[in-house]
Amino acid sequence: MNTIILETVSALRQFVAARRAEGKTIGLVPTMGALHEGHASLVRRSVKEQDVTVVSVFVNPTQFNDKNDLNNYPRTLEADCQLLASLGADAVFAPSVEEVYPEPDTRQFSFPPIDSVMEGARRPGHFNGVCQVVSKLFMMVEPDVAYFGEKDFQQIAVVRAMTKSLELPVEIRPCPIVREASGLAMSSRNTLLTESEKRTAQSISQVLFLSQEYARNHSVNETIAFVTDTLNAIDRLEVEYFQIVDGESLQDVADWDESNDIVGCITVFCGERPVRLIDNIRYK
Ligand code: PAF
Repeated sequence: MNTIILETVSALRQFVAARRAEGKTIGLVPTMGALHEGHASLVRRSVKEQDVTVVSVFVNPTQFNDKNDLNNYPRTLEADCQLLASLGADAVFAPSVEEVYPEPDTRQFSFPPIDSVMEGARRPGHFNGVCQVVSKLFMMVEPDVAYFGEKDFQQIAVVRAMTKSLELPVEIRPCPIVREASGLAMSSRNTLLTESEKRTAQSISQVLFLSQEYARNHSVNETIAFVTDTLNAIDRLEVEYFQIVDGESLQDVADWDESNDIVGCITVFCGERPVRLIDNIRYK
């Protein structure tokens, strides 16, 4: 299987136009590289469901509100391309920053209250940057379906809102979180953890799983306190936020009866550096 590597928008457009002319469906898996099994599951699904799969590998500067975070973000393009070839991706779009942003993107996206809570409240400008790059990718590739991992639960809701507001004919297909055997949600940021920090980070998912049981006979507030206090008591872990929200509006729920779609979203700082890890768990 030959996987073509495309570095320019014009080469990408030509590639896609030729496949469209053959009547093929196109799946897009947007990534920032440093690929792991979580990304692989998205690519496998696209390869299975679509005629052609395009994977973008682009560390998007406009979604980082912290320069250190951008500089430290792992970059492993060669290994990524090898993995993508083995998964049967048809094309890897790996452009430079200048290719994606020949001039500064001044567009402002705002979808309150979905993008103003949780990650949106802690990382000003983050979702604006995500919308800038994802909307560009959608307009460049014009995919039938775009695949996103549910680890970034809020990102999916924001991308959906952006797609709807721009009336882009792309279906957003969420895919389940992929976890390591320990339960740790797979993330490119896990490579920044030392082995011992990785063992500590396992507690995040373990406590979230325990909280599903706990929630059966405790209130929402008690469950929030259980998760937060248990994790904060562990050396080298610090919960930034844990919120139990309605899965669609992303607004806090006060009672389990308030919605049939309830998700707990967490961000935890782990270790010396520290590394910021996110995860979520479904209660209903
Ligand atoms: O989830 C990510 O890796 C990024 O936010 C995305 C969707 C590729 C946009 O840069």
